[in-house]
Amino acid sequence: MTLTDSISVQKTNQSRISETDFNNLEFGKYISDHMLLSDWSEGKWSEPVIVPFGELKMTPAILALHYGQAIFEGMKAFKMSDGSINIFRPHKHHDRMVKSLDRMCMPTISFDMFIQSLHTLIEVDKNWVPTSEGSSLYIRPLVFASESRLGVKVADQYKFVVLTSPVGPYYNKPFRLKVEDHYTRTAEGGTGFAKCAGNYGGAFYPTQVARKEGFDQVLWTDHKEHKYIDEVGMMNVMFVLHGKLITPKLSTAILDGITRDSILTLAREAGMAVEERRISIDELEDGYKNKTLTEAFGAGTAAVVAPIAVINIHGTDYQLPKVESNSIQQKMKNKLLDVRTGQEPDTHGWNYIVKI
Ligand code: COI
Repeated sequence: MTLTDSISVQKTNQSRISETDFNNLEFGKYISDHMLLSDWSEGKWSEPVIVPFGELKMTPAILALHYGQAIFEGMKAFKMSDGSINIFRPHKHHDRMVKSLDRMCMPTISFDMFIQSLHTLIEVDKNWVPTSEGSSLYIRPLVFASESRLGVKVADQYKFVVLTSPVGPYYNKPFRLKVEDHYTRTAEGGTGFAKCAGNYGGAFYPTQVARKEGFDQVLWTDHKEHKYIDEVGMMNVMFVLHGKLITPKLSTAILDGITRDSILTLAREAGMAVEERRISIDELEDGYKNKTLTEAFGAGTAAVVAPIAVINIHGTDYQLPKVESNSIQQKMKNKLLDVRTGQEPDTHGWNYIVKI
C-alpha cells in the first residue's frame, strides 16, 4: 500500500474526549476514540480500517494467548509550535518492529502500510494530541497471533492494531532502583532486543519482589555473572561517570531504544564524550564512592528521561545527587523536546509531520 491509497474510516458517534482529564493524564489510562485494524491471512495483510475503539471478537484459543507471539511498539506524537503534529522517528520504530516481528516468526509490515496507518489514525484523532508541557500522544502499534488453534505452531493468522493514548510524564519523581543479582530478564541470544510481550510479563515477578522491598524498578544485569548492566525496568539506562555519558553497548539482550539513540546522537553533537560499552556494577559502586558518578537516569519512549534517586547494590542504598537544571540529563531532555516540538531544527530528519 502507498500513501496515495486511502484507509476506510468509520467514525464514532460517541466520542469520549470530554470524559478525558487532560490535566491529569495518567500513563495509559485513556485510549483515543479510534483504532486501526488489519488482518494477516493467506499470506497478506488486509486493507487497514479505522473503527471506533472497542472490543475485538476472538476465541480464547488464539495462539498469542498460549504461545506468546505478540509484539508491540511504543512511539510518540507531539503538537508542534506551528500547530502541526509530529510523529517522532517512525523509520527507526518501524525498523525495530520489523526486527521484533522477524524474531517472533511473524509476518513483516511495510513502512508504507505502517506510516499510512499511523498518519491516518492521527488525523482522525487529532484532537486527542495533548498540548500541555511534557505531554504527548503515545502510539501503540501491536501485532499478535490471532489464529484459533491449540497446536504448538507458528500462527498463520495475525492482527495488526494501532491504538493511541494521550499521556503525561510517566514518572513524577526520581525513582529507586535495585540491582537485580538473582533473576534475569533475558540472555544473549534470547528475545531481549525484541519488543515482545513476554519480555514484560517475565519481568513482573522480580519487579514485584523489588517493590515489596521499597524499590520502583530493577536494574537488570547480565545473566551469566550478574556483574554487567543491561537495562532498567522497561528502559535503557545511562550514567554520567567521570564527566562522560556512558550507557551499556547494545546486544541481543538489550532493547535498541529510540530515546537512547536520540540522546546519544544529541550528546555527541553537543561535544560531549559518549561511551557505549560494558559497565560493571563494581565500576558503578566505585564511581559512587569516589564521587565520579554524578548522574544516573532511565531513557525510554514512555518515560523520556527518568532520573534515578537511589541505586541499591547488594543491599546498600547509594543516593544520587539531586537533579539540577544544568545537569546533563535535563539538558538532553530539553534538547530532545525542542527538536520534537519544532523549537530546534530537525537536522536528522527525525520528525514526520502530519499537517492538520
Ligand atoms: C516505552 O517506553 O514505549 C515502553 O515500551 C515502555 C512501556 C510503557 C511498556
